[in-house]
Amino acid sequence: MMSRQWFLKQTYLTKKQGHVWIVVSRDGTLGYFKFVTPEQWYYSGPMVANELISAALAKQLGFPVADLQETSVTGVDGVSRRGIVSLSVRAREMLPWQEADAAVFQDPVHHVKDTDLLAALIVFDVWITNLDRSLGANLILYRHHPAESYSWYLIDHGNCLYGSPRKWERGRPSAPLWDRISTSRYTPKGLEDLQTSWSKLEPMIAKIEALTEADIDQALDCASDEILKSTERAFIRNLLLDRQKRLRRMFTDWLSP
Ligand SMILES: Nc1ncnc2c1ncn2[C@@H]1O[C@H](COP(=O)(O)OP(=O)(O)O)[C@@H](O)[C@H]1O
Ligand SMILES: [Mg+2]
Repeated sequence: MMSRQWFLKQTYLTKKQGHVWIVVSRDGTLGYFKFVTPEQWYYSGPMVANELISAALAKQLGFPVADLQETSVTGVDGVSRRGIVSLSVRAREMLPWQEADAAVFQDPVHHVKDTDLLAALIVFDVWITNLDRSLGANLILYRHHPAESYSWYLIDHGNCLYGSPRKWERGRPSAPLWDRISTSRYTPKGLEDLQTSWSKLEPMIAKIEALTEADIDQALDCASDEILKSTERAFIRNLLLDRQKRLRRMFTDWLSP
């Protein structure tokens, strides 16, 4: 993808785990620029690397995911920050999943496209230890006309994979709690039935099992040594390979009566 220059439009969110600015490029494309400061490490970890690697894996598995671009943006204070832009799709209507109309939650199959793939999203999220999809905040719906059903894409994998030091205070990666699945932790509202259907989940389990070490290394290569230390890279690699082996068992344990 051609790399664009981005300009600050509006500072949007300031949180313990990072900053989000709305940015715009010369051609009018909107994006969300995310960056962290070294002082935020405990809450943010290698946020940009978490994002890039997760998005690469999502793409390998066929999930629509926001395009990401590493870049620098200058703030109102004239200081340039290094971070990542998550590109927004252009559409007449766009909203986070949890803000959708009740009708969408009641009958997602008739209001949203590709619901088989959406059902399988929980498999990906469990694999990469993503706890940030439970409300559907990081799932974006969009459409070009009110009569259309919604298309969707994934955003915000900042706390996936290595996440941050804080993430592992709940339990080390080897702790049983990371293998225990629950709809309340992983499932956007309204997808409970779809995401507990074995026939909808199994093909994605098989797809993740079929990824080779080379596939996983290719995703890891999206993060340079500047943004990911070798110990953190090894941590993520182990996490992915380890959970890949246990993924099927996690789901059969969860769904067996
Ligand atoms: N690519 C995108 N398309 C549409 N909205 C986005 C995109 N990236 C971010 N946003 C919006 O900005 C919010 C914050 O971005 P997010 O990446 O989720 O950061 P945070 O780590 O603060 O949750 C999102 O909840 C969403 O509303
Ligand atoms: Mg978010």
